[in-house]
Amino acid sequence: MGRGRSGDLLPLVNSSAPGKIILFGEHAVVYNRPALAVPVTQVHVDVEVLDSSSRPGIWVNAPGINLNAELNSLPTDHPIASVMLKLFQSLGIFQPPPMDISITSTIPVASGLGSGAAVSVALIRALTLYLEQPLTNVQVNEIAFEVEKLHHGTPSGIDNTVITFNKPVYFIKGQPIETFKVGKPFTIVIGDTGIFAPTKESVMDVRLLWLRDTNNFEHIFNEIAQISLIARRSIESGKPELLGEFMDHNHELLKQLTVSSLELDTLVQAARSAGALGAKLSGSGRGGNMISLVEKETAESVSNALLSAGAKRTIITEIT
Ligand code: PMV
Repeated sequence: MGRGRSGDLLPLVNSSAPGKIILFGEHAVVYNRPALAVPVTQVHVDVEVLDSSSRPGIWVNAPGINLNAELNSLPTDHPIASVMLKLFQSLGIFQPPPMDISITSTIPVASGLGSGAAVSVALIRALTLYLEQPLTNVQVNEIAFEVEKLHHGTPSGIDNTVITFNKPVYFIKGQPIETFKVGKPFTIVIGDTGIFAPTKESVMDVRLLWLRDTNNFEHIFNEIAQISLIARRSIESGKPELLGEFMDHNHELLKQLTVSSLELDTLVQAARSAGALGAKLSGSGRGGNMISLVEKETAESVSNALLSAGAKRTIITEIT
């Protein structure tokens, strides 16, 4: 319970959703190949909903994006408004009650860590709790995917899925959700180029190249699919040390898809030189993040090497 402006106790609900990284298979996943993704719980979106009966309307306060506005004043395709409108529509709610919504996030925007999908998932969960109409994970995932489609053109749905289920997923577009177990924990260092890189653009560029050179691109996608498959087996059977080589190979294939960049290649190389077992870009590329597999003891030194090579920030995360 929270305390309202008049001092009355008001109902309060909150919800949180993690960030994510794609370990293997980005871009190929758009073409129905498998990809592996895991949640990153060190970064998250938090949503809080309060009863605001003292003033009409639905107020959204998201300081991270300088937003403090009433829902009706926002364009219907606004990233936050669109989540709420989709949700009300699917719940058949035409006159939602007044409320105050606060959204805070520690996930960097447009950098491959799933910030958009995490906002959708946390917001959907908080609102359904507040409206006392809880949904299953599958339903939350479906609505979050509808929102992803509004903003990203032809997304595979991997971001909303791994974030909704908050577990490692082996993802194939349009197929039932498969989560999987990690046989032995392993450590990943994430390095952020700090470069804003919209997913929609690199996905579109890959599509144009695929249309021009279909055989070659299909061949690359098949190689990436093999990597995702073997990587999943290695993780499940407790041999994560094998992933380093697969990461290096996957990065080379992503370069062939033209989605790497000088900054990403520099960070990948810096991680390897500092003792990482392997490294690759993660997500849509061109900017955003890269990931590297490390022995726990070398995590700090790889992280420092990434910062010296130009990373704007790093995250050390244990995949369990
Ligand atoms: O949202 P990002 O940057 O993690 O990239 C998504 C991964 C892609 O495979 C490039 C696109 C998709 O929809 O799967």
